[in-house]
Amino acid sequence: MSLNYDFKTHWDTAYIKNSIEDLGWYEDDPLESLDLINKCNLSKKSIIFNAGAGATKLIQKLKDYGYSNIYINDISKSAIDKLKSSINNIDGLSFVVDDLTNPKDLLNLEMVDLWHDRAVLHFFVQQSKQDAYFDLLKRKVKNGGYVIFSEFAIDGAKKCCGLDILNYSEEMFRERLGDDFELLESFNYLYNHPSNGNTRKYIYTLFKRIN
Ligand SMILES: C[S@@+](CC[C@H](N)C(=O)[O-])C[C@H]1O[C@@H](n2cnc3c(N)ncnc32)[C@H](O)[C@@H]1O
Repeated sequence: MSLNYDFKTHWDTAYIKNSIEDLGWYEDDPLESLDLINKCNLSKKSIIFNAGAGATKLIQKLKDYGYSNIYINDISKSAIDKLKSSINNIDGLSFVVDDLTNPKDLLNLEMVDLWHDRAVLHFFVQQSKQDAYFDLLKRKVKNGGYVIFSEFAIDGAKKCCGLDILNYSEEMFRERLGDDFELLESFNYLYNHPSNGNTRKYIYTLFKRIN
């Protein structure tokens, strides 16, 4: 894939061509994410940032639980449009269509209490994109804030949505975040697609910023 590959169009096409429920990463109920978010003991007014949120059901769940300050990002406007039409109202939600690896509007994001990323970081196979992503994350997560990653595990699938993947281990997250972040929890999880039964091996991690 060339360095100039148009990822925005790639992702827009994925969301235009498929129903949300048919996407290979679709979850009816993002229980593992919610469980980790629960462990952060956030106030309902805490600032939650969803990196590459797509059309995830997590946003409606967070609203149902009373969280009222949620930032939703994606590179794909089509994904964000689908998300908007899948939730009951958009009170308390802010939408930022921007590239996590070449941020513009995201640079103006306020500091957040929680950074949540499911199945986004693992698409950044180029070192320069990883560097840009982690630079943004470290600028935007408050001291005392949390980071949740859920990516394809080290022995997991090598491709998703036609794109190459960088598989992750707990150690790789630790290395990228550095000493300012403490690992609180990590587990492997076998995802089952709710309708077609396909499985994917994920690793979930919860970190806290301590410096
Ligand atoms: C596999 S999907 C996961 C979506 C969602 N996190 C979930 O769990 O359902 C990957 C998402 O990352 C978004 N994405 C990919 N590259 C991105 C980038 N550079 N910046 C922001 N979002 C990106 C895609 O548009 C897509 O919605």
